[in-house]
Amino acid sequence: MKVAILPGALRRDSLNRKLAVLAARELAALGVEVDALDLRDFPMPLYDGDLEAEQGLPETTQRLRARIAAADALFVASPEYNSGVPGTLKNAIDWASRPPRPQPFAGMVVALASASPGPYGGARGLAALRPVFRILDAHVISPELSVAAANKAFDDAGAFVDERHDKQLRALCSELVRVARALRRD
Ligand SMILES: Cc1cc2nc3c(=O)[nH]c(=O)nc-3n(C[C@H](O)[C@H](O)[C@H](O)COP(=O)(O)O)c2cc1C
Repeated sequence: MKVAILPGALRRDSLNRKLAVLAARELAALGVEVDALDLRDFPMPLYDGDLEAEQGLPETTQRLRARIAAADALFVASPEYNSGVPGTLKNAIDWASRPPRPQPFAGMVVALASASPGPYGGARGLAALRPVFRILDAHVISPELSVAAANKAFDDAGAFVDERHDKQLRALCSELVRVARALRRD
């Protein structure tokens, strides 16, 4: 069982990267292999149908697709930008969803999490991300985690300050692994 973890933010001190690191730890503790992805390793041009027609998928998209396709499940930790999905993440998903088949998100079990200094914790971004994965035939599990006031939620070592968040993240990761095992694609 392998779970790919994808932070939706690029910046080094990203709160969502911190969340992704903690999710990786929880998932490893559950006995699954973790593949920590970083969108910085897969820089892509803005999606352009002409570019696609002339050159096919960028090499970075092909590599990202392969890493996602090799996983049984996907954990996304993403901020919301202007109540929606950050363009960087959406652009990567859009490129990765293009032919040739198989489309890498089809049948993938997905957990969504977010962190934001704001009062909603990025929950509106997750609400926008859910239908994106749904149309791509992924199974997005019902529970999700949004960490509000996230600028105060992590200590200097990157751990949660409030153990309530540990419990919520553990429950989310457990459910992801449970559903992924039940729906295993191979
Ligand atoms: C373009 C942009 C739009 C943003 N819009 C929202 C928003 O709608 N809601 C929110 O809670 N935070 C919003 N923020 C603040 C982000 O939640 C905050 O910068 C957060 O730390 C980004 O995630 P990161 O720490 O993982 O990089 C926005 C930030 C940017 C750069």
